[in-house]
Formats: sequence, C-alpha cells, structure tokens
Amino acid sequence: MVLASGSGSNLQALIDATISGKLDANITGFIASKPGIGAISRAEKAGIPSCVINRTSFETENEFANSLLTAFRDLRADYIILAGYLIKIPVNVIQKWESRIINIHPSLLPDYGGKGFYGLNVHRAVIRDKQKLSGCTVHIVNEEFDKGPILAQSTVSVLENDTPESLAARVLEQEHILLPQTIQQLIKKTFP
Ligand code: GRF
Repeated sequence: MVLASGSGSNLQALIDATISGKLDANITGFIASKPGIGAISRAEKAGIPSCVINRTSFETENEFANSLLTAFRDLRADYIILAGYLIKIPVNVIQKWESRIINIHPSLLPDYGGKGFYGLNVHRAVIRDKQKLSGCTVHIVNEEFDKGPILAQSTVSVLENDTPESLAARVLEQEHILLPQTIQQLIKKTFP
C-alpha cells in the first residue's frame, strides 16, 4: 500500500519494479493526500485501487487516523510506503503499524530532516551549506519525524553549479532505484 502527495514518480518506480520483477510484491492500494495529484492517474493507469484521504476533510486527527487505519485494513497491506507523502501520520497509526511504515526522504538523514525539510527546501539548505554530498534515505517511520531507523541510503555529489532543482532531479533518480530495492530487501528479509 502506497501513500503520496505529489507527482508520484516514486510510486511509478514501485509500479515499474513490480512489473519488471525487481520487486516481488503486489501494490494493494494507493491513498492520495489530496485530489488532482499526478500520482492518482499513475495508480489508476496501473489498475491499483485508489482513494483520496484528505486531512482537511476531518475535524479531528483521530477521525483522520481512523480513516487511514480502515483503508490499511481493507486493502490488506503488509507495509505502508510513504512515497512523497507530505502529511504527518497520526501517532496512533504509527504505533499500530510499528516498523511497517516506510518513508523515503530526499536527504542523507539525520541531516536535513524534520520540520520544514521537504521538497526543494531540503536541496536549498544543502546548497546553502555548501555540502559536497547529498542523497536520499529510506527509513522506518516512528513517532519522531524523519528520525526512525535508517534502512538504506544513496549518495549524490553536489556540483558547483547545482540549483535546488538540478540537485533534486539527481537525488530523485537515486530515490527511484533505492526505494524499490529497499522494499524488496525488507520483504525478502535480506538486509545485510
Ligand atoms: C521525493 O523527493 C520524495 O523523497 C519526497 O517527495 C518527492 C516526491 O516525488 N518526500 P514524487 O511525487 O515521488 O515524484
């Protein structure tokens, strides 16, 4: 089961990996955080049951949490993959799905993670700090935002003339490799 908030290129990487056989899994469902995002059409095109669960449609966090929990149960997920999902997962959902919610983040965590570090903000900060290396991280989601146990990372060199956009594009290429690879290792329990 995959959740996303954006264009869904990471969702596409997972779909492609299931088709090519690199990822031995079935994507049982897709949840969009809002209507109209690119990820929805990618899921529909791939025949993946999808729905929108919009945080702003719920008055309380608890109602939002219950809606997520019902969807996770109905779609019989083993793992929940946050593939560019920008909404905070309620703590009771994280606790009920302990160690089974996985996130991809476009930096080398623990650096450039936490509040405010999403999208181009991450890459802007990396360039501002004149870092030589950046990359992406796949980690288990726990109650501390972007601080759960790290499963895998890929590094990318930061070039002299990089803009946040050019760096984001190179990191994203690595995300598309790292995410399916890590999920495959997780389900096959082949971590070194
Ligand atoms: C990726 O950089 C991901 O790491 C971040 O949001 C971006 C999503 O891109 N959390 P996409 O929607 O998968 O294209």
